[in-house]
Amino acid sequence: MGARITGMGSYLPPKTITNADLERLIHTSSKWIVQRTGIKTRHHLNSDDDPAIMGIEAGRDALSQAGVSPNEIDLLLVATNFPDMICPGSAPFIAAGLDLDQTPFFDIKAGCSGFVYGLVVANGLIHSGGFQRILLVGTEALSRVTDWADRKTCVLFGDGAGAVLLEGAAPGEGILGSALHADNDKALLLYLPAGGTKFPATESTVKNGDHYLKMEGAGVYRSAVPMMESSTREAVAVAGLHLSDIDWLIPHQANIRIIHSLARRLHLDKDQVIINVDHAANTSTASIPIALDEAARAGRIKHGDLVVMTAFGAGVTYGAVLIQI
Ligand code: UT7
Repeated sequence: MGARITGMGSYLPPKTITNADLERLIHTSSKWIVQRTGIKTRHHLNSDDDPAIMGIEAGRDALSQAGVSPNEIDLLLVATNFPDMICPGSAPFIAAGLDLDQTPFFDIKAGCSGFVYGLVVANGLIHSGGFQRILLVGTEALSRVTDWADRKTCVLFGDGAGAVLLEGAAPGEGILGSALHADNDKALLLYLPAGGTKFPATESTVKNGDHYLKMEGAGVYRSAVPMMESSTREAVAVAGLHLSDIDWLIPHQANIRIIHSLARRLHLDKDQVIINVDHAANTSTASIPIALDEAARAGRIKHGDLVVMTAFGAGVTYGAVLIQI
């Protein structure tokens, strides 16, 4: 027995930042941002907002959609790259907000592929028979690690969270195939240097901006499409299916050009690809569950549909999961 999704939820903070807002802050243009990325707006937390609120709201939505109460969950998994605190992470704060009592929790850090990795972890744990209901949250407060002096990155990211409740599936339902991969040679394509144990916080790390996210955009771009293409093909093959069987593709929402190029290489119709990068920007681990929840609530993705979710990100990690909704 593997896992199926029985509830979904998402949360985007109410404050939106438009490209025109960014034009007033930094040397950029809305035209450049839309042409290069497809992004028109992104959502940001206010500076005094608690980041945990996003995962709590998304998790609550997913539980209420499934009609499951918090004390019926066996495990909370939180995929995030920029936790509320380096220790103890994000999961305990989301668990507290959801009123989970003694439920175990842990964070998963696997770059923007964290949600896809989380699906595979949850599927394995449910398959093992040790867990019946796992709440998987992808949440990211990227505005808190954005360098506003770096126009190559600051226009790209947004805050948000998405969640799914996973429960046991009958054979032939739920997660049907998956593929996870990584390439450690590319670890420094996307990273946040300081604040960990390698470069603890000092006056000079703060002065140098080493607590902000750094990215070699072109390098990430070059790797992203082949990585998501190969893992999508592999996940579909593992399930014994063909790309022509797939109803929907939900790629990590990093850049519209990456998404279109992936769809072309997979010979999928543009209408089969779920896209929300235009209004949510890149929310890292949250991008796939937010896009999934939005598409399901809009009546596009329906019960029984075959959906491939694929991502790539810091590490670098990449992978795909094929799931029947
Ligand atoms: O979650 C995974 C994480 N990241 C990604 O998926 C990002 C993948 N990479 C990308 O999406 C693209 O590489 C970017 C959108 C980040 C950049 O697009 P690009 O086509 O690779 O641009 P570039 O970095 O080669 O820069 C081209 C030009 C440069 O000007 P010059 O040197 O040619 O005069 C940049 O300085 O665009 C300039 N530029 C900007 N101009 C206006 C860079 N950022 C901006 C900006 N506004 N915000």
